[in-house]
Amino acid sequence: MTAPFADRCSRLAAEAGGEGVAAVLVAPSPDLAYLTGYGPPVFERLTMLVVRPDRPPAMVVPTLELPLAREAVGERVELVGWSDGADPYALVADRSPAEGRVAVADRTWASHVLGLQAVMTDVGFEPASLLIGRLRAIKDADELAALRRAGRAADETFRQICAMPFLGRREEEVAADLARLLVENGHARADFTIVASGPNAASPHHEPGGRTILPRDAVVLDFGGELAGYFSDTTRTVAVGEPPEGFAEVYELVREAQEAAVEAVRPGVAAQDIDRAARRIVEAGGYGERFFHRTGHGIGLEVHEPPYMIEGNETPLSAGMTFSVEPGVYLDGRFGVRIEDIVAVTEDGVERLNRSTRELQVVN
Ligand code: CO
Repeated sequence: MTAPFADRCSRLAAEAGGEGVAAVLVAPSPDLAYLTGYGPPVFERLTMLVVRPDRPPAMVVPTLELPLAREAVGERVELVGWSDGADPYALVADRSPAEGRVAVADRTWASHVLGLQAVMTDVGFEPASLLIGRLRAIKDADELAALRRAGRAADETFRQICAMPFLGRREEEVAADLARLLVENGHARADFTIVASGPNAASPHHEPGGRTILPRDAVVLDFGGELAGYFSDTTRTVAVGEPPEGFAEVYELVREAQEAAVEAVRPGVAAQDIDRAARRIVEAGGYGERFFHRTGHGIGLEVHEPPYMIEGNETPLSAGMTFSVEPGVYLDGRFGVRIEDIVAVTEDGVERLNRSTRELQVVN
């Protein structure tokens, strides 16, 4: 793999310059890993990358972590050590412009932002989410390959879970199987394993618990994890034997909505149009009120990241963007249905990174 990090830092610097932002400050987070390849543990001691349009990047690092940082960033980034007792915020201020706009990465602890604000009194702080999010949204070939692998591993996990028993087992037992299978199929770890059975499936982010899965339950399975730094995230809804009353109609509607939204994906289309494509069908079926979340979220180094497929987001899709398409319908006290695949925008359309069957799977 060619190291993309120097290029990412210079692109961020150029974008910042173009927007009139004098510096971008980045604490340990997926943003820092993306820009430098450095992913230190997040502690109270300040580590902070300073990216400026007019200077090479520098990073303020606790002295005891200098060897770690040096190993990760080599000579690409100037490292500035600080020892316990020193004021790291003053060091960041020294390397930042005295005035103008300074963008701060989203996942910076409030204690650090407040520390910076105390010493950088003449700059205007703003979020860096737009600048960094725009870069991260477009995946390069290596990132796409990692996301494809994660997608395949999640698909294999779904295939295997369908062959396992559901009836009479607790949600948390099926969730444990999902977590184990995700890892067996190559994930470094499982991050979430939603198993929402029967009426629990009407709660989109249900925590799997002690409910025993009964005959005629519909079960929403929404699971994913990290593989080589990148995430999987897929959802299928299965039926335990004969599905519940009214389920088949809703399942078909959600399946059609998901299909239509995926088919709408191509460069130049606005993100909100993917949401509209799914919502139009659910609304026409009479369940618009019961589809109460956005249609999708970007995915990459984080499970949720820009771009978001939501009304009001006019961002045009570009080749290399990856996101979920996951309409759902939730009927309180009865059941829920969600179908989710990760897709990638290609030069002329769309590639599905999840290929599990969307035909209703009946499990035992
Ligand atoms: Co998702």
